[in-house]
Amino acid sequence: MAKNITVELCMGSSCFARGNSEILQAVETYLNEKGLQDRVELVGHLCLGKCNQGPNLRIDGTDYSGITPEEAISYITRALEE
Ligand code: FES
Repeated sequence: MAKNITVELCMGSSCFARGNSEILQAVETYLNEKGLQDRVELVGHLCLGKCNQGPNLRIDGTDYSGITPEEAISYITRALEE
């Protein structure tokens, strides 16, 4: 059975300035286009404590740092397929 995942996006000011605003938009668009809202819980955080490595994203407890919107989508896609 297809599994559900939790995606935590850092919405702290440092990560937001480093690109998480674009990543948030890209992820929301991707989930809408693919109809994945029921399988992906998207959560915002104030700070994941790694500001100088941002933008930071956490998928089911695994952290990804310094990512682009394209990388965020591919990590989410991979996590859904695992
Ligand atoms: S603002 Fe994102 S880790 Fe601190």
